[in-house]
Amino acid sequence: MIKAFVRFFLPLGIAATSCALEAKDDANELLSSRFELLLTHPVEERGIPRSYSPETGELEVTSSRAWTSGFFPGNLWLVYRLTGDAAYAEKAEEWTALLEREQLNGRDHDIGFRMGSSFGLGYRLTGQEAYEAVIVQSARTLCTRFSDTVGSIRSWGASKSQWQYPVIIDNMMNLELLFEAWKLSGDERFYEVAVRHANATLKNHFRADGSTFHVVDYDPETGVARQKNTHQGFSDESAWARGQAWAIYGFTMAYRYTKDERYLAQARKTARFFLQHPRLPEDGIPYWDFDDPKIPNVPRDSSAAAIVCSALYELYGATEEGYFLEQAKRLLESLQSKAYVLDASLEIPFLLDKSTGNLNKQSEVEVPITYADYYLLEALARSRSLATR
Ligand code: GLY
Repeated sequence: MIKAFVRFFLPLGIAATSCALEAKDDANELLSSRFELLLTHPVEERGIPRSYSPETGELEVTSSRAWTSGFFPGNLWLVYRLTGDAAYAEKAEEWTALLEREQLNGRDHDIGFRMGSSFGLGYRLTGQEAYEAVIVQSARTLCTRFSDTVGSIRSWGASKSQWQYPVIIDNMMNLELLFEAWKLSGDERFYEVAVRHANATLKNHFRADGSTFHVVDYDPETGVARQKNTHQGFSDESAWARGQAWAIYGFTMAYRYTKDERYLAQARKTARFFLQHPRLPEDGIPYWDFDDPKIPNVPRDSSAAAIVCSALYELYGATEEGYFLEQAKRLLESLQSKAYVLDASLEIPFLLDKSTGNLNKQSEVEVPITYADYYLLEALARSRSLATR
């Protein structure tokens, strides 16, 4: 039934044929020649691609519970958006269906990542009514992690015992789910929770130079910020590259829904911190952390560059500052170059190489990871006629 829907919807929807004609301009050949590997990867409930280890030659796959589970379906949705080829939408729907149960998973804040890149994106592209209820329920689940006293959504539970009420900068990304659910349902609570979370993050997460801390830990009884630390970065005071990327993207996105100029000013400042950093390499792809003293002999993180690249297209749309468009194009060119696109002979369902998931745990160091592909594909889609979403 779902497949029938896509076939029926496509001619009315996102202009399949003209998209297909334009696709060549969006993704270069190096990249687009890999798209089919995503399509042909077999759909399995506990086999959702996440990353790949060159040492073992094995794919890392997960169940729908992983924070990354929405990105693989999302990558198929995005290839569909770029190419207009209905086969990608059909496959995206199959993978998306595997995540349905996660609408009730409130064990961490990552529901926004999981459901936004799968159901949320699928809804935008196809308008499928059945997805609406899942999006709204997911937002309800996310709100169960919000404290009125702290004014933030709690990122992690008690297992990370160093903290009482940890909130990480990545959490800004989950607000898109709340804003979309607010638009779909008209429930003002979703908007209120999103704005209060963004305001608390604005107040407590940033340093004077525009960079962001990774973790802010609050006292759940008083709402006071107790300590500012890192989890995935080099040190508490360092600028973890992907954290900066989440901040740039998160505040640009929050501005889209609220038109709060303070959010735009923060996105602009953190983007300049990132783009003008003396330790950002010439090609714009950052080292995993701007403050690792072993630079340049440390891993890069192409996922951070892909997130920033996509955010910069929207930031350009919001500010009309040509600088951000130039920088978006520069990152897009680097990411699509031979240095970062996976070798054509490697038959795995990924596009980009050299993302670093968690160097502190020696986990996923300079390897292909699904979320890097997701934000690169989104950047490509945004680069087309400078779409801001
Ligand atoms: N919160 C996920 C990450 O950026 O690693």
